Amino acid sequence: MSITILGIESSCDDTSAAVIKDGYLLSNYIANQDVHKAYGGVVPELASRAHQQNIIPVVDQALKKAGVTKEEVSAIAFTRGPGLLGSLLVGTSFAKSFALAMNIPLVEVNHLQAHILVHFIKQLEKENKQPEFPFLCLLVSGGHTQIVIVKDYSDMEIIGQTIDDAAGEAFDKCAKVIGLSYPGGPLIDQKAKHGNREAFAFNKPKIKELDYSFSGLKTSFLYFIRDEMKKDADFVKNNMNDLCASIQFTIIDILMEKLEKASKQTGINQIAVSGGVSANSGLREALLKKAEINQWDTYIPEFKLTTDNAAMIAINGYYKFLNRDFVSQDIAPLARFAY
Ligand code: KG4
Ligand code: ZN
Repeated sequence: MSITILGIESSCDDTSAAVIKDGYLLSNYIANQDVHKAYGGVVPELASRAHQQNIIPVVDQALKKAGVTKEEVSAIAFTRGPGLLGSLLVGTSFAKSFALAMNIPLVEVNHLQAHILVHFIKQLEKENKQPEFPFLCLLVSGGHTQIVIVKDYSDMEIIGQTIDDAAGEAFDKCAKVIGLSYPGGPLIDQKAKHGNREAFAFNKPKIKELDYSFSGLKTSFLYFIRDEMKKDADFVKNNMNDLCASIQFTIIDILMEKLEKASKQTGINQIAVSGGVSANSGLREALLKKAEINQWDTYIPEFKLTTDNAAMIAINGYYKFLNRDFVSQDIAPLARFAY
């Protein structure tokens, strides 16, 4: 019998629904929220309101695109956390109502584990190369930066993480300093392609073991720009591409150094990346270079699966469904959700 999972993601500012049938992705519909651009960051209240407006049309589109009826859905999986509580509440309430109305199981998913399991999504007519357990995953998003040993679909150990800002946050905050709109990560990536990454050097943090820190870098970038602007009011305008290339290079270098250390320490050579920042072209290139040097087997998600999406929620739901790992109707979302 086929297993069809409807996945729902609403942890931050993307409303998404996806359908996965027997591990194969049939649809993955994402509604972005442009409303936050004017504010330079996500406004939680506006995000939850937009989720409310988007959720039903998004689910409708995902089912239609997949060619699946409501009655054919075996279970509904939703992001329980971590994330913005008001945003999570919309997806959670929708999933609970849908499960109740259709009399199907409800599956909770941890958003971070979902980013990692993106590597198990199979697509029709694609190669579908998947990592074997255990593998290392560098999870780099707007809210988290972690190095994880992935031992099984639900058994994961965090061996390093940021003690302050996430890598995506560092991209976005540095972008804001030089006047780029939110989210600045993809804009830095674009401009960096035309710049010299060695034009400016920024101090890298000295943090113990496999942990990261990005708040010092952001502050030194801010002070550097402020000082240069005192000498030349057009400094940012005249050096935009070089600034983007240099800050991107520094962030990637910090990420790669600890990832390499983690691989040496654990002896694991299967290396995956996931999360929004794994869309970064410089990071992808750096990873492939390190792979050549260290003989790593690398796993890099397709662009559409790097940032928040419901396909990753659905695949997590699929493996939980196989284990009959269901939750009851009294489940509530969690802004902080450790795993
Ligand atoms: O995983 P994600 O969609 O949401 C969270 O769970 O946080 O990640 C969003 C983050 C943002 O900080 C965004 O600027 C960053 O991913 N990002 C990028 C790129 N695309 C998205 N950062 C650098 N280069 C990119 N190409
Ligand atoms: Zn995410």
